Amino acid sequence: MNAPAPLHTAETLRSALAAALDGLPARQAAQAVERLIANYRGATPTDAPILRDRADVAAYAAYRMPATFEAVRSALEAFADTVPGWAPGDHTDVGGGTGAAAWAVSATWAGDRPVTVLDWAEPALALGRELAAANPALHAARWHRSRIGAALTLDGADLVTVSYVLNELTAPDRAALVDAAAGAAQTVVIVEPGTPDGYARVIEARDRLISAGFRVAAPCPHSAACPIVPGTDWCHFSARVSRSSLHRQVKGGSLPYEDEKFSYVAATRLPVTPAPARVVRKPQIRKGQVLLDLCETDPALHRTTVTKRHGDRYRAARDTDWGDPWPPAGHA
Ligand SMILES: C[S@@+](CC[C@H](N)C(=O)[O-])C[C@H]1O[C@@H](n2cnc3c(N)ncnc32)[C@H](O)[C@@H]1O
Repeated sequence: MNAPAPLHTAETLRSALAAALDGLPARQAAQAVERLIANYRGATPTDAPILRDRADVAAYAAYRMPATFEAVRSALEAFADTVPGWAPGDHTDVGGGTGAAAWAVSATWAGDRPVTVLDWAEPALALGRELAAANPALHAARWHRSRIGAALTLDGADLVTVSYVLNELTAPDRAALVDAAAGAAQTVVIVEPGTPDGYARVIEARDRLISAGFRVAAPCPHSAACPIVPGTDWCHFSARVSRSSLHRQVKGGSLPYEDEKFSYVAATRLPVTPAPARVVRKPQIRKGQVLLDLCETDPALHRTTVTKRHGDRYRAARDTDWGDPWPPAGHA
């Protein structure tokens, strides 16, 4: 489980969202969320934006943006660990909606950089711009209408993010988007829901990026084929998210948080040192031992048991979370 984002960015986002929802009657917001959930469960892709008006985007943002923000931030953090000292000089977020990935980049790498958010839904871009007023790193961000399809072209950028978008696209549009990102970016980070289908779309994109000359930096410790036999399992991770009041209104429940499951790939043309292995399931802590399910460089999936007699390594294993590299730095 990845730790939540530095509190100030997550909290700034939360209060910007609360301010944006202020004035939207709770019942209208709840109805918009219900409609969006139904739409996202239904047959996508669509020919026209699902996010039609301000009530839709405000509801989407309040309900989903804290979760997509935390998922992208976790993926970026894993990537950042493989390129210590590097920070993107500029960033483009495609299908960026209200800007969750732009916020996540600003939470991962300090400082300002040119940021461009592209989406076909004008109301999403408008709300994204409004929310970004609360984040100094995004004051100069550009919010542009752009349709993902065969005609998509992207300007060169150090980092291109594609977050929770592939599932809204047809197969040819997914291919066009990944190819455009590969042609424009030094590093591409793709995040999808942590479902079997989301994982399958990530693997499809991963293969395309490798064919275009990229190396996988995270989560995989290698750029060879994924060792998971298709249909038997799916690689995914988890990010903890505080639940918003709208979330609680719509879904009920009393837990103050939820765990957002996501699949991702971070691929790059930069020289990178991927983790030697990554923990791909929630570690099981037993009396005197920790069971870690690892994806290793062979490439292979492998369970290792770390016991008390491993000393420091055992203590490190007890602190290791799902999604973390193994062994941690300094324990090789
Ligand atoms: C589920 S939302 C994700 C938004 C944002 N990336 C995030 O992680 O919160 C999907 C976004 O993709 C955009 N989108 C879907 N199909 C698109 C297309 N063909 N061209 C441009 N944007 C598209 C939608 O308008 C929406 O903003």
